[in-house]
Amino acid sequence: MNLKTTFDGLVLENPLMPASGPLVGDTEKLLFMKNAGCGAVVTKTISTKEPHIPKPCIYGDKQYVMNSELWSEHSIEKWIEEFLPEYQKEKDRPLIISVGYSKDDMEILIPLLDPFADAFEVSTHYVGTDLSVIAETVKMIRSHTKKPFYMKISPHIPNPAEFARMIKENGANGIVAINSLGPTMKIDIETRSILYGNESGFVWTSGPVIKNLALATVYAIKKAEPTLTVIGVGGIQSADDVIEFLLAGASGVQMLSGALIKGKQLYAKIISDLPKRLEAYGFASIEEVINTSLSNNVKYKANVPSLIEDKCIKCNICVHVCPYFAITMEDKISFDPNKCFECGLCVTKCPTDAITMA
Ligand SMILES: Cc1cc2nc3c(=O)[nH]c(=O)nc-3n(C[C@H](O)[C@H](O)[C@H](O)COP(=O)(O)O)c2cc1C
Repeated sequence: MNLKTTFDGLVLENPLMPASGPLVGDTEKLLFMKNAGCGAVVTKTISTKEPHIPKPCIYGDKQYVMNSELWSEHSIEKWIEEFLPEYQKEKDRPLIISVGYSKDDMEILIPLLDPFADAFEVSTHYVGTDLSVIAETVKMIRSHTKKPFYMKISPHIPNPAEFARMIKENGANGIVAINSLGPTMKIDIETRSILYGNESGFVWTSGPVIKNLALATVYAIKKAEPTLTVIGVGGIQSADDVIEFLLAGASGVQMLSGALIKGKQLYAKIISDLPKRLEAYGFASIEEVINTSLSNNVKYKANVPSLIEDKCIKCNICVHVCPYFAITMEDKISFDPNKCFECGLCVTKCPTDAITMA
């Protein structure tokens, strides 16, 4: 199965990359991602100032991660004198260097890092939502490099399509969508305190809970600016998730929280699962997924559900969840056509696929 994806002159043997974060914070970790088989490797965000990171700083639940990490705790000097030259000795796939944040930072960072980078990813996480400020940053980067670069969009940017138009006009190649969601909060009732948070009490949320937001952002950007490269990130934890992002418009994907929740072996597992999952869905290659246009079958009339009796285990979940009080259980489940709103919730909640709206 051909897992290759190519964009802006970068050739990736498969579409999965690590997302910027603690798992790509020095040479050892970059090499881990290369050896896990990632199609390209991305670095932790490098900036010009020392970050002051609250500790503890990473909370992991089943469906989300909350963090108060900032950018790399290592200086630009450490990166260009030690980590990147060391990594370069074994580098055999594209390296995307993540940098942050302001126009002034870019003026310092891009020339120093350019010799090591195949592409740049630029975090705009802490620069606010003013697109004219981001436009100036984009222009500054383009004046210092011929390499492809991708602006990373944070979910607090109100209009992704407008962001896309502006970064394209000013010379960026694409967008990495999305950064973690916030501000969010974690409260500990026992101690009446905030255990994980910055001085304002806030943390950033990532992982499976943000996947649907990330997908919609990728889709909105690709629709608005089809010639921009989009790299999808947010909540990926399986090969099926990768396929969904590619269908939404991404040319490649990144993952972090999935591996923080399930373990670092998840990178290699997803890459080895991809051929089987592509085959199961009838795709012949990753490129075929990327080139598939997603249809939208919106309609305003559906059918009242019906029961596939031999599949029903009489668990009553549909009765309990029905928002329109339309399902009852006597001898068997029945649907009241006068009350049913054709919302479809019962179909998605049934554990045995015993309800159909076909
Ligand atoms: C602990 C942690 C540290 C992160 N550090 C960075 C960072 O330095 N730069 C950056 O652009 N994004 C950073 N992120 C955001 C991720 O790269 C990614 O955009 C986000 O977590 C969504 O993807 P995920 O759900 O696969 O984690 C960090 C996320 C986490 C959880």
